[in-house]
Amino acid sequence: MLAQAPHTIAYTSGMEVLVDTVQQLSMARSIERVMEIVRSGARKLTGADGATFVLKEGEYCYYADEDAIEPLWKGHRFPLTTCVSGWSMMNKKAVVIPDIYKDERVPVEAYRPTFVKTMVMVPIRQMDPIGAIGNYWAYHHTPTPEQVRLLQSLADITAVTVENIEMYNALERRVAERTAELQAVNKDLEAFSYSVSHDLRSPLRSIIGFIELIRSEPDENINTRSNQMMTKVMQNAMNMHQTIDDLMAFFTMGTKALVRRMTSMQDMVTQICDSCCEAEPARKIDFRIGTLSDAPVDSIAMEHVWNNLILNAVKYSRKTENAVIEIGSETDGDMVIYHVRDNGAGFDMTYYDQLFEAFKRLHSGRDYEGSGIGLSIVHKIVTRHGGEVWAESEVGHGSTFYFSLPASVHLEDQ
Ligand SMILES: Nc1ncnc2c1ncn2[C@@H]1O[C@H](COP(=O)(O)OP(=O)(O)OP(=O)(O)O)[C@@H](O)[C@H]1O
Ligand SMILES: [Mg+2]
Repeated sequence: MLAQAPHTIAYTSGMEVLVDTVQQLSMARSIERVMEIVRSGARKLTGADGATFVLKEGEYCYYADEDAIEPLWKGHRFPLTTCVSGWSMMNKKAVVIPDIYKDERVPVEAYRPTFVKTMVMVPIRQMDPIGAIGNYWAYHHTPTPEQVRLLQSLADITAVTVENIEMYNALERRVAERTAELQAVNKDLEAFSYSVSHDLRSPLRSIIGFIELIRSEPDENINTRSNQMMTKVMQNAMNMHQTIDDLMAFFTMGTKALVRRMTSMQDMVTQICDSCCEAEPARKIDFRIGTLSDAPVDSIAMEHVWNNLILNAVKYSRKTENAVIEIGSETDGDMVIYHVRDNGAGFDMTYYDQLFEAFKRLHSGRDYEGSGIGLSIVHKIVTRHGGEVWAESEVGHGSTFYFSLPASVHLEDQ
């Protein structure tokens, strides 16, 4: 077997140190950690007696960190123009000084108290240096080109790592700022909607209360026309009350944390359909409820979804003689798809883009009452659960609304 030359062995072990250092650097998330890795890596790389990590601070070189047999200049600052690290940064190249007492770039007085006889200094980020890495020997020695190359490679990798950390930190700061801004806006909106709903609800409650009082006391002075007008006022007041409740749901459903539990959609839907029948005894709606899969959902939020879809089906089939509302589900891979189908008025698919937008309505208030917020709440809740909502319709031939939900989630991951 051929014996390897000593400098080849040194170079090979230097490469191993470099690879190890690169691996450590790839996980570093702070400049302090980078300096810690680089100062010991730099020394091991060449077998030097000391290594320094120097940062450029304006017109100064800041000896930020070191790893050496005896103390060097850690914590000191020197003008760029008076030290070797400054020379290396300003000239954007490596410096090899076999004898520090024979080179005029070396501020000898600063070196005299130290062990240093020989040194190599390489700039970090050659194009536009942000610092330098120094290697020092306690004896006279001429560093090989391989040693300088290894050190320069380390400096180049350090530059990339520092840039990545700066970018990472800047991104983290931006995310934190944006999150704080969003939280503040959400808080304002929530406070605003609570106060609006409170201020609107109380006068409404008193309007409704007074009309109920008038109607409960028979008075011959109140004629049929006045009675009809009072019924209208009452209806409008109730509608407004409902709108305020919907608005509150719209705001809270976007921000409130979801609490998911395996929920029986079958029970939920059956109850809603039963109360629809009670609320509209004059109508004979044929509810056909198929088998509905359970799903891991926030039950309060999901009740809003079913309520809105079923009440829409009831409302928009009001003018159909034999209203049929079919509700069912089917599994598609990891998702369950639920649907609510009616044979009512249907809507014009030309305006489909506006269907799930808040306050957008595809029918006039004269034909069908409503504020146009129900489907936007459905959309918000379903997407927050990781699903989608869509619909198909034909004017005069009814509509089908679909929504998908993940069949399972890691409930403990919420
Ligand atoms: N089942 C349906 N059949 C026909 N059109 C529908 C149906 N569901 C919704 N739409 C149309 O979509 C629009 C938006 O529905 P959405 O539920 O958001 O509002 P709304 O029912 O008008 O009012 P709200 O639900 O706030 O009381 C409705 O105005 C209507 O034009
Ligand atoms: Mg609705």
